Amino acid sequence: MNAGAMAGKVCLVTGATSGIGRETARGLAAQGATVIVAGRDRRRCEGTAAALRRSYPAAEVGYLVADLSSQAEVRRLAEDVARQYDRLDVLVNNAGAQFRTRRGSADGIELTFALNHLGYFLLTLSLLDVLTASAPARIVNVASNAHHGATLDFDDLDMRRGYDGMRAYRQSKLANVMFTYELARRLEGTGVTANALHPGVVATDFGAKDEGLRSLLRRAARPAVRLALGHQMITPREGAQTSLYLATSPEVAGVTGQYFEDKAAVRSSDASYDVAAQRRLWAISAAMTGIG
Ligand SMILES: NC(=O)c1ccc[n+]([C@@H]2O[C@H](COP(=O)([O-])OP(=O)(O)OC[C@H]3O[C@@H](n4cnc5c(N)ncnc54)[C@H](OP(=O)(O)O)[C@@H]3O)[C@@H](O)[C@H]2O)c1
Repeated sequence: MNAGAMAGKVCLVTGATSGIGRETARGLAAQGATVIVAGRDRRRCEGTAAALRRSYPAAEVGYLVADLSSQAEVRRLAEDVARQYDRLDVLVNNAGAQFRTRRGSADGIELTFALNHLGYFLLTLSLLDVLTASAPARIVNVASNAHHGATLDFDDLDMRRGYDGMRAYRQSKLANVMFTYELARRLEGTGVTANALHPGVVATDFGAKDEGLRSLLRRAARPAVRLALGHQMITPREGAQTSLYLATSPEVAGVTGQYFEDKAAVRSSDASYDVAAQRRLWAISAAMTGIG
């Protein structure tokens, strides 16, 4: 890691209070960036920012609080960024979750889709002016290889007809990849790049705050199961490396519209390359958020 390489750059990381996002924020602070920790809980945001400042006294670390499943709060977050910072060089859309039972967001939208996809979509579009004005700038969307095999059910994106938490999660991660491809096309010529990634299978708190999933995870935490899974899991710090690579490395300056694993561009699922579906998703997302 090159201390000082990101000096003067302003980077926003969502879901930076835990797991991969927290380690992404840490890695950016270590390279001298001005880091904005975005999280939904003020105390956890304060704690994360304070810990980063302790580790990197020279780093400028701020935080902004917003529930990213709420469109009003996403809009307010974007306004706060534009008001408090004069530029934005890197946006890392990372906050995400999975829910075992169907829940509605503040806007009445199925919560996985609202948070994991519309949260990325609305925040990015709300920050496009400041990103474009700061070009070259980078948008990094944390997706997942769980998108493989998923499809978008345009007749029931909201899963009113039958909810399955894993299917909702996989659909939202496919939406992350397809959104990235359409966004990259729309940003051509602006100097703003957009890429998506799979972070690896990472030992984080993912799912642990959802009551339904917590009981499943508790079972998964049994020693025998852990032993079976454990050797495949990487640490949050390792899991942040591809996000950090896309956010900072000169090797990917100008690279856009790609999907990465282990710091390398790889093919995403066949379904993700359906341009008509990407455009349809964009149009629906724009209608659902009133932007774009
Ligand atoms: N872990 C894996 O193996 C894995 C694999 C593939 C992809 N991913 C992706 O990696 C990303 C990060 O996940 P993680 O594993 O690091 O999980 P995590 O430790 O649970 O972190 C998720 C972050 O998102 C935040 N968040 C959750 N709901 C939010 C909301 N409504 N508004 C604002 N922030 C919210 C959490 O805030 P709190 O601290 O307040 O809970 C936390 O900071 C996700 O997009 C996930 O899909 C993870």
